[in-house]
Amino acid sequence: MAEHLIVDNLLSKEEKYKSLLLQIKALIEGEEDIIANMANVSAAIKEMFDYFWVGFYQVKSEMLVLGPFQGPIACTRIKYGRGVCGTCWKEKSTIIVPDVDQFPGHIACSSLSRSEIVVPVMKDNEVLAVLDVDSVELDEFDEIDSLYLNEICSLLIR
Ligand code: SME
Repeated sequence: MAEHLIVDNLLSKEEKYKSLLLQIKALIEGEEDIIANMANVSAAIKEMFDYFWVGFYQVKSEMLVLGPFQGPIACTRIKYGRGVCGTCWKEKSTIIVPDVDQFPGHIACSSLSRSEIVVPVMKDNEVLAVLDVDSVELDEFDEIDSLYLNEICSLLIR
């Protein structure tokens, strides 16, 4: 692929995230309920990119429990250190998985999901929740997604 096409691609993704950030800031500004905000954030990301599955798992009683999401039904509980979400919780850092079949212990809620990114929602160095975004395409996510999804997650914390 010609280099300018790659750059155009990245720019358009970045422009989408910039517009998404403005939308999400406006949505969240007047609402302090984190569930309401997670619900709208999931919907806004799904609408903008049409990713396969977008949603949150919240840390509750030493488990990740399914929270607000957009997309097909998903597994409800994930243990610490298990799957991509549980690993994100354990490592307190963003995980990009270009090919879910190559991630040991990946939890397949749907066989249609081929790549994913999971971002921690942190407060005072503790993980409160994780944001999981799944795509039907291999290698969908990169540092641009990581940058903006982390910024979006930081907006959820007051
Ligand atoms: N794939 C995730 C599980 C959550 S679903 O994909 C919605 C994981 O391995 O943690």
